[in-house]
Amino acid sequence: MSAALLTTACKASMKPFMRQTTPLLASLGARSFQSATVSQASEETPVTAKEPLYKTFSIYRWNPDEPTEKPKLQDYTIDVNTCGPMVLDALLKIKNEIDPTLTFRRSCREGFCGSCAMNIYGGNTLACICKIEREEKSDVKIYPLPHMFVVKDLVPDLNNFYKQYKSIEPFLKQKKPLQEGDRENLQTIEDRKKLDGLYECILCACCSTSCPSYWWNQDEYLGPAVLMQAYRWMIDSRDEFGSERREKLQNPFSLYRCHTLMNCARTCPKGLNPGKAIAEIKKMMAAE
Ligand code: SF4
Ligand code: SF4
Ligand code: FES
Repeated sequence: MSAALLTTACKASMKPFMRQTTPLLASLGARSFQSATVSQASEETPVTAKEPLYKTFSIYRWNPDEPTEKPKLQDYTIDVNTCGPMVLDALLKIKNEIDPTLTFRRSCREGFCGSCAMNIYGGNTLACICKIEREEKSDVKIYPLPHMFVVKDLVPDLNNFYKQYKSIEPFLKQKKPLQEGDRENLQTIEDRKKLDGLYECILCACCSTSCPSYWWNQDEYLGPAVLMQAYRWMIDSRDEFGSERREKLQNPFSLYRCHTLMNCARTCPKGLNPGKAIAEIKKMMAAE
C-alpha cells in the first residue's frame, strides 16, 4: 500500500473513534481538560542537560597492516552522559564520533550472541552488559580476550576455539539410523532439567581465556567452554554416544589439564559453572 493510501486508510479508520470520543470530551469539559494539562506541565521540573562526566577509555590497538608497529594502548576521553550505560555504548560512541578505525565485534547488544567478549576492568566479560563504572575515578582499560592471537584491536582469533568445539561433535548422536516416519526424540521434564545451567552457554570464550591451563596448553587442552558442552551432550538422555564421547577425552591433555582453579566459573558473564561440569565428567570417567 502506498504512503498516501495508507494515510487515507488511517484517517478513515480513526473517524469512528473520533466521532465516539468527541462527545465524551465535551461532557468532561474540554476547557478544564486543557487547563489541567497546562498547569501540570508548569509544575514539572524543567528538563536540564546532565553535567558532563568525562571518562578516559584506554583501549588496546594493533593493526595487522602495520606489522612492525608494536601494540599500544590508545586513550579516548568522552562524556559518558551522552551515551548509553554500557561499555559497548562507549565503544560505539568512540567509533562513530572519534575514530572509525577502532575495531571490535558486536551484534546483539543483549548478552546473547557472545561476540563482544573482551577484557574490561581486568576481567573477561561482555561489553554490552558491562556497566561503565561511573563512580570509579580511574580510567577504563579494555583489552582483547587474553592469551589469544589478535586479528585486529579488540578482535581475538577464535578459530582454534571453534575447531575444538567442532571436535566434540556438539549435536545429538544416536546409534539407530533415522527411518522414514520416525518421530521427534521425546524427553521427560526431569531429563530436560538436567541440561539447565549448560545449554545457556553462548560460547563467548570468556571462561576458556581466563583459564591458566588453557593459556598454556590451548593446542591440546579443550578448555572449560568446550568441555562443558561435551558434558551437556553426555548427559542428554536422547544421546547414545556418552561413553564414546568420554573415551575421546581419555588422554593427559583434553580434559585432565583442568586443575579446578575455578577462574572459569568466576568470570562467566552468564553465571554458569564450567568447572563443575568438568568435575562431573571426571567423576563419570573414574566410575567407568
Ligand atoms: S560458559 Fe560462560 S563464559 Fe564460558 S563460553 Fe559459555 S557463556 Fe561464555
Ligand atoms: S576449573 Fe579448570 S577449566 Fe576452570 S579455570 Fe580452573 S583449570 Fe580452567
Ligand atoms: S553484542 Fe552480543 S553478547 Fe554483546
